[in-house]
Amino acid sequence: MRIGCPTEIKPQEYRVGMTPNAAREAVAHGHAVVIQTNAGAGAGFPDEDYIAAGAEIAATAEEIFASADMIVKVKEPQAGERKMLREGQLLFTYLHLAPDPEQTHDLLESGCTAIAYETVTDAAGGLPLLAPMSEVAGRLAPQVGAWTLQKANGGRGVLMGGVPGVGPARVVVIGGGVVGTHAARIAAGMGADVTVLDRSLGRMRYLDDVFGGQFKTSYASAGNTIELAREADMIIGAVLIPGAAAPKLISRAQLSELKPGAALVDVAIDQGGCFETSRATTHQDPIYDVDGVMHYCVANMPGAVARTSTIALGNATMPFMLALADKGWRKACEDDPHLLAGLNVHAGKLTYFAVGKALGLDVLSPQLALKA
Ligand SMILES: NC(=O)c1ccc[n+]([C@@H]2O[C@H](COP(=O)([O-])OP(=O)(O)OC[C@H]3O[C@@H](n4cnc5c(N)ncnc54)[C@H](O)[C@@H]3O)[C@@H](O)[C@H]2O)c1
Repeated sequence: MRIGCPTEIKPQEYRVGMTPNAAREAVAHGHAVVIQTNAGAGAGFPDEDYIAAGAEIAATAEEIFASADMIVKVKEPQAGERKMLREGQLLFTYLHLAPDPEQTHDLLESGCTAIAYETVTDAAGGLPLLAPMSEVAGRLAPQVGAWTLQKANGGRGVLMGGVPGVGPARVVVIGGGVVGTHAARIAAGMGADVTVLDRSLGRMRYLDDVFGGQFKTSYASAGNTIELAREADMIIGAVLIPGAAAPKLISRAQLSELKPGAALVDVAIDQGGCFETSRATTHQDPIYDVDGVMHYCVANMPGAVARTSTIALGNATMPFMLALADKGWRKACEDDPHLLAGLNVHAGKLTYFAVGKALGLDVLSPQLALKA
């Protein structure tokens, strides 16, 4: 197969769909890899690394889209990129089609076959191509929260680990899933006093078994949430109700009960945020103040650490990318129902039921698409 990887063109996106290591593996499997010049620069991978891995370098995205059998990317194709997709071409990337009728329309019209990272599943019921980015955002949250807590940034002027004779920062993490667990581990590692709130007893049992001693758990009733929030220096929002907007767990009125200069890091902002006063911000201007409480609400946190994120994403996507290249999408999806779960579009038909429901469009079952 000829595998093409264009430069990401969405604003502030520095990740790249293929690392030099992924290119090297694909080449070793007998495939041709073509990377757009400077595609890896934002993640610290110069063209020479790809050339050393056996890949070709192309000057433009047009050349890549024109010649590749499979396009491997990070973000959903932008309007200009969608025009270059063609019938029979395979697209492997994040798509997030449900809230995006224009993109869905363009992908259907292109006739391409599109497999979305975010709907690929695993045997444990998880989402293996979303998890690495949740791990990154979770581990980044205490780091950016600690910066937000610094006095010059409007914070309380509290050091995460305290010092001998001075207690540590109190950190409350709401939601103990992938983001919350990684956030709690890092905050505890920085020396903070950490409590994780969740509504799933099973999840709290797991956290207590594995991390008991490093951080505490508490049931996420409204009463416990505000009681812990009142004492917190930092609150990290990490809840997810799949397919729904994030529930608002701290209201505007409750801000006056929090400590002045407390840091609210709303990782769940990409699902609307779990604090009433959250609104999405950017890496250029990440924090703002509401009633003396500092909010950090960057919707694409992994972009801040593009190199780590690119490598983590590449590790997760590589086995699927290789299976698609080695076997072709049909056989690869026939052999692996978890990869088939990623099939969203094929030959002008939508093949993912939740997207069809969200957009009011007809859906061809992915099993039938395999035979189409
Ligand atoms: N901002 C970013 O850059 C970024 C990056 C990655 C993930 N995210 C977002 O972070 C959020 C969390 O993702 P995740 O991968 O950890 O999800 P997850 O499903 O692994 O965990 C979510 C947890 O929230 C818990 N929960 C649900 N409702 C709750 C409530 N009312 N109170 C307390 N806990 C509740 C669930 O029991 C679960 O344990 C999602 O919205 C995700 O989209 C954002």
